[in-house]
Amino acid sequence: MQKKVFITRSILPDGAELLRARGYKVDVSELDRPMTYEELKSKAHGYDALITMLNDRIDEAFLKSNSHLKVISNYAVGFNNIDIKMASSLKIPIGNTPDVLTEATAEVALGLMIAASRNFLSAERSGEQGQWKNWHPTEHLGFALSGKTLGVVGFGRIGLRLASMCARAFNMKIIYVANSEKENSLAAIKVELSELLSKSDFISLHLPLNCTTKNMIGKAEFDSMKKNAVLVNTARGEIVDQAALIKALKENTIFAAGLDVTDPEPLPIENELFKLKNAIVLPHIGSATYEARRAMSILAAKNIIAGLEDHELEAWVNKKDLLP
Ligand code: GLV
Ligand code: GLV
Repeated sequence: MQKKVFITRSILPDGAELLRARGYKVDVSELDRPMTYEELKSKAHGYDALITMLNDRIDEAFLKSNSHLKVISNYAVGFNNIDIKMASSLKIPIGNTPDVLTEATAEVALGLMIAASRNFLSAERSGEQGQWKNWHPTEHLGFALSGKTLGVVGFGRIGLRLASMCARAFNMKIIYVANSEKENSLAAIKVELSELLSKSDFISLHLPLNCTTKNMIGKAEFDSMKKNAVLVNTARGEIVDQAALIKALKENTIFAAGLDVTDPEPLPIENELFKLKNAIVLPHIGSATYEARRAMSILAAKNIIAGLEDHELEAWVNKKDLLP
């Protein structure tokens, strides 16, 4: 019988075309919003495989109710929305989309470093609001990147790519926190988090969200940062204690923050982060280039094909649990 694949949101069509060319039936959600948990949980009953979005909650109850699934491919590198342990115990392979979005996400992190340290947002708003009366010698002053120290928390693909951009283009000194030393050609040095926090002029987070990283940057961490520090988060909002961040920005404990992720998402319009002059908040656009999203669509589809045809997934999150 023809196998059926469901894509939970309309993504760039390259992946669906690949799946159809391979002979699979592909349906795509027609809703211009995320499906609700219940909608997706019952919809999935009629399919062999799913391409899910990072805001689809694939928890224990979902998986138990859909234990027939042959494969799930998350349209993201992060997979904190999926109960991996339960998927493994039900022998459902889980795929993700690493590598293809590394460049796009590192570019957003670099953009946020510059935008936050050079006050792009408040400077632009001042023009919009009629405050641009003349060229001003002492307004909108920020800090240069050149020659400064970048602290990268989590030195995986994206963290390393950002470090490389900053070392090469801005002659920045790189220090990082990771579980093990990572070979690199940037003279980047592994340090403890406490040292990274007190020495860095820019701090960028590149960790997966899990129970050890949740809220790892809170009041004590902000208190040990430099006053000129710029915090950038393109990973997951929950890694930062957001109330502590707002307080640190209000009291100028640190200079500024550039965020592509928040807690929750979407961030409600009345949230204080939107009102602060020293915070810039993007709506989770790290991977939002045509190049990355097209490659993610294709990689997600390749994971599905491999899962349906009993091959190894190209990007296989729970490989260690499932390979005999
Ligand atoms: C985006 O946040 C992703 O995990 O791909
Ligand atoms: C994501 O791809 C990472 O390892 O940083």
